[in-house]
Amino acid sequence: MNILSVRNLSIDYRSSFGTVCAVKNVSFDVKKGETFTIVGRSGGGKSSIASAIMDLTTIDGGEIKSGEIFYKGQDLLKMSQAEKRAVKGKEISMIFQDPNSYLNPLIKAGRQIEESFIVCHPKASKSEIAQKIEETLERVELKDVDRIYNSYPHRLSGGQKQRILTAMAIINNPQLLIADEPTTGLDADVQKKILDLIKGLKVSLGLTVIMITHNMKVAQAYSDTVVEIKEGQLNVPQTLNSCSFHP
Ligand SMILES: Nc1ncnc2c1ncn2[C@@H]1O[C@H](COP(=O)(O)OP(=O)(O)OP(=O)(O)O)[C@@H](O)[C@H]1O
Ligand SMILES: [Mg+2]
Repeated sequence: MNILSVRNLSIDYRSSFGTVCAVKNVSFDVKKGETFTIVGRSGGGKSSIASAIMDLTTIDGGEIKSGEIFYKGQDLLKMSQAEKRAVKGKEISMIFQDPNSYLNPLIKAGRQIEESFIVCHPKASKSEIAQKIEETLERVELKDVDRIYNSYPHRLSGGQKQRILTAMAIINNPQLLIADEPTTGLDADVQKKILDLIKGLKVSLGLTVIMITHNMKVAQAYSDTVVEIKEGQLNVPQTLNSCSFHP
């Protein structure tokens, strides 16, 4: 069963320098429970697809020129604002590409995790919030929890920030998790730990994962399905070894 089907998606960005056709007529299906990976070089259009699924294209200054994004059979692009609110950040969540621009430098890490929960559960009691936070921090295997919880993001390592982002992405029990280059800027050892964490969460939480990476080795090691994007165009799904892109 497909949890997500993208059909003929095209995305443009317009600026004073002209129009960039970032995504060109892209279609793909993501099966429930799989890790579906979009691999490709920088600028290929990977994050633009993720933004469209998360309804962030307009905020990013882009425009969806055409296409449909069916989540459990319903077109996300045609949903009312209320319907989108019920899905975005709850059923579908995302680990963003750059922790430094996604985490607020002026708010302690723990408070940012709490806010992710409270925004979707405004009536939660203090004890419910505390319980959920404890459970989520355990799931992302953060060591030295008290210190990290009370730290501002600039005091945290890249791996710790990535675990905070992961906690924020899973705290509302999503069904579909988009991980956009979740290991950017991390050394090889930490990269593997974060990827293993996401793999473990997929199993323990029953997630479907859309992973985005420029690294074919990562795609090969962690995915059920791999598609390659190049200059906004997606190659049809193919076996891992026959992908033409190599890092
Ligand atoms: N907000 C924006 N405004 C203008 N152009 C944009 C914007 N975001 C992306 N683009 C352009 O759209 C194209 C696709 O960008 P996108 O970020 O989707 O690629 P990507 O595959 O995620 O790259 P990377 O691996 O570097 O993250 C690029 O040419 C990029 O310059
Ligand atoms: Mg990107």
